[in-house]
Amino acid sequence: MVSVAIMGHGVVGSGVAEILLTHKQKLFSGLGEEIYIKKVLDLREFPDSPIADRFTKNFEDIINDLEIRVVVEVMGGLKPAYDFVKRCLKAGKSVVTSNKELVAAHGAELLAIAKEENVNFMFEASVGGGIPIIRPMTQCLVANNVGEVAGILNGTTNFILTKMIEDGMQFEDALKLAQDLGFAERNPAADIEGHDACRKICILASLAYGKHVYPESVHTEGITAITLDDVNLAEAFGYVIKLIGRVKKLSDGRIDIITAPMLVPFKSQLSNIDNEFNGIMVRGDCTGDVVFYGKGAGKLPTASAVVADIVDCCKHMKERRFLFWADGDGRNIIDWRESVSAMFVRVTGADAAAKAEQIFGDINTVSDGDMLAFITCEMTYADFEEKCRTLESAGVRVLSHIRIGDI
Ligand code: HSE
Repeated sequence: MVSVAIMGHGVVGSGVAEILLTHKQKLFSGLGEEIYIKKVLDLREFPDSPIADRFTKNFEDIINDLEIRVVVEVMGGLKPAYDFVKRCLKAGKSVVTSNKELVAAHGAELLAIAKEENVNFMFEASVGGGIPIIRPMTQCLVANNVGEVAGILNGTTNFILTKMIEDGMQFEDALKLAQDLGFAERNPAADIEGHDACRKICILASLAYGKHVYPESVHTEGITAITLDDVNLAEAFGYVIKLIGRVKKLSDGRIDIITAPMLVPFKSQLSNIDNEFNGIMVRGDCTGDVVFYGKGAGKLPTASAVVADIVDCCKHMKERRFLFWADGDGRNIIDWRESVSAMFVRVTGADAAAKAEQIFGDINTVSDGDMLAFITCEMTYADFEEKCRTLESAGVRVLSHIRIGDI
């Protein structure tokens, strides 16, 4: 029998407890041992839980219990999660977490501690919810040089955009529905402003390129400025708007990383990924494109990934799983204004098409009443900003601009 503790009994934590209880026999046959929930840490009371007698409000009950070998951190946030996880690892306990904020902020340090203590620190659920992505990248794709990783990494924003596109739903109503369904973060600003997706692409970039990428080094835009006009005009050009986290390796060895809404062509495999589903494309030099798809948020999908890590920890009590990246200083990341892409631009003003063509060169245009939308050729963002200033000084108002995702 392996004793585990679960820190946090919210959406994911209660899902982990549920799977460990309802799938007890299935897990026993896969592992050859029972996984026993010895303690659950939460400040709230859960008198109706079948394991109500195992709840504690005191972290010391977990850290001081020598029988607890694996600790699951599903509290979210950095405080007190960071401190608790560090103490568990230093006490020789393996840790499994779904906490992307924690991994994106402190992954390199926690992996180093785990290595030193010869225990495991695993976080499959931190990216893509129920979709296997960390393990495939570290194991199945290990032979590849990864040229690019691009994904729809946030279920809440994908759900909101889908509802706006397909049902003409208002942004706020769609967000409320996503919160009711348990997809959104405690503070949904992290979803809609792109920080959650940013943390996830940071984790994948760190994994792909071996150096920690901190969220502060990554230019991040959310979906709050996206309007139904953008959605409709994008569609007229053959694109759908998605919030994308993307990292590319450049020929000089540096990386180009960003989180932003992008126009994804209908023919892209990511364009049909809707609602709370996530999709992640990994471009390997041996495999070509590999796409991972599934539920990126929600109680049982996320808990499923957590439980898989618990089982892996239980199977590797003596021998550490190799999962590691070094600390990073951001010097391997290009300035986001130097990143090159084509742009979708929505404008209004007299003779907008002629003026835009004069300034941007070859463009494709679509008109809608007073508005004009056009797509530019590829250029750096710095170059694009300069041209927009010239366009505005010629009397054309830029209403919005969105990158074209070459994915
Ligand atoms: N708020 C996150 C999302 C939860 O919507 O994707 C899963 O990380």
